[in-house]
Amino acid sequence: MAKNSTSSSKGIFLVLFIVYLASVSADDGLLLNGDFETPPPNGFSTDPMDPDPTGIPSWTSKGTVELVESSQRQGAMILVIPGGTHAVRLGNDAVISQDLKLEKGSIYSVTFSSARTCAQLESLNVSVPGSSQTIDLQTVYNVHGWDSYAWAFEAEADDVLMTFRNPGMEDDPTCGPIIDDIAIKKLFTPEKPKDNAVINGDFEEGPWLFRNSSFGVLLPTNLDEEMTSLPGWTVESNRAVRFVDSYHFSVPQGKRAVELLSGKEGIISQMVETKPDKEYTMTFNLGEAGDKCQQPLAIMAFAGDQAQTIHYTPNSNSTFQTASFNFTAKADRSRVAFYSVYYNTRGDDRTSLCGPVVDDVRVRGVSAAWRVGLAGLQLFIGLILVMLVTSV
Ligand SMILES: *[C@@H]1O[C@H](CO)[C@@H](O)[C@H](O)[C@H]1NC(C)=O
Ligand SMILES: *[C@@H]1O[C@H](CO)[C@@H](O)[C@H](O)[C@H]1NC(C)=O
Ligand SMILES: *[C@@H]1O[C@H](CO)[C@@H](O)[C@H](O)[C@H]1NC(C)=O
Ligand SMILES: *[C@@H]1O[C@H](CO)[C@@H](O)[C@H](O)[C@H]1NC(C)=O
Repeated sequence: MAKNSTSSSKGIFLVLFIVYLASVSADDGLLLNGDFETPPPNGFSTDPMDPDPTGIPSWTSKGTVELVESSQRQGAMILVIPGGTHAVRLGNDAVISQDLKLEKGSIYSVTFSSARTCAQLESLNVSVPGSSQTIDLQTVYNVHGWDSYAWAFEAEADDVLMTFRNPGMEDDPTCGPIIDDIAIKKLFTPEKPKDNAVINGDFEEGPWLFRNSSFGVLLPTNLDEEMTSLPGWTVESNRAVRFVDSYHFSVPQGKRAVELLSGKEGIISQMVETKPDKEYTMTFNLGEAGDKCQQPLAIMAFAGDQAQTIHYTPNSNSTFQTASFNFTAKADRSRVAFYSVYYNTRGDDRTSLCGPVVDDVRVRGVSAAWRVGLAGLQLFIGLILVMLVTSV
């Protein structure tokens, strides 16, 4: 018996070990040389006019690709490097790419930091076989001059070539976006909780966040419900919302939440399963991110046919409040959505965008709870009756 149980526990360990290996091979985190800090074979070039892009370890490149350094100047400006001391700059139509070992059919989110170098509109086209998105770097969300962005895609094969291209054609060839800190994360879609129709309502599952980057990650528009860096949710507006963590922001619940930026130009939504004509309660947390955002903060919340403006009332004891309202579902799917009523900026620089934080979104059937309560009560009364009858 004892021998049997040890061998079966060995078996369990083996299975656990294989599961562990499988989960490790997904390699969440920085891509190989994703921070561009690995020195090229001949060292970092000290002459910015003589860059050697062929030597960027782990990357292949085409066109004017330059490794840039944090002290480097562009005209009168010092270049902004998002993390560490090196980054890469893509000139007109220039490309960098890397082969990734992924799992066919899984959804991945790539996080990368980017800064513009010139005043005009700059953008980056991120692509893998079968999908691509051009992300605008025009809007300055952050006074530090760079931001992190996330983009999600489905791996069509186990080997995927990920490409970053500057689609720009500027007169000044030294213009073009700077890229740094590229990481990847395999996403999973959390199961729908029994008592909540909202998937990922606590926003705990989302794109890779760098532990030491204090600016969160922007989630640009994604109209495809399936391909989202924030499982369950869609950013249905032109402007981005920000995914924030509790290490750098005030988060009402758990480790992550969403900060709504750009007024009604930054909308997140989800279609939740409902039963027509049934009554539901939506509850959620509304808070401040702790990023010196100038008040007042308010959100517009939608659930089914209801819309309500809810103002955040600062309270010295807490950084958030709970709000709720009832709605009656009209169909078997109801839309839940949020946007910020105001365009808020930080009080310290009056430029960086900020806004109210939303977390812990729940949609629960009201009548079902009542019915369960009633059924319970009937059962209880029935039991008492049976006990009375049998004791007589
Ligand atoms: C995080 O910090 C480490 C060590 O200070 C640094 O090497 C790395 O580049 C940083 N990463 C980011 C994303 O800032
Ligand atoms: C982005 O790049 C992909 C792959 O090269 C291409 O198919 C797509 O058309 C590009 N999108 C834009 C808007 O340039
Ligand atoms: C906030 O704290 C004060 C004292 O510290 C207390 O009197 C008050 O009831 C608290 N308010 C809430 C909403 O908890
Ligand atoms: C929602 O409906 C429930 C049950 O009918 C009721 O108890 C509750 O007060 C309602 N909530 C609001 C905010 O109206």
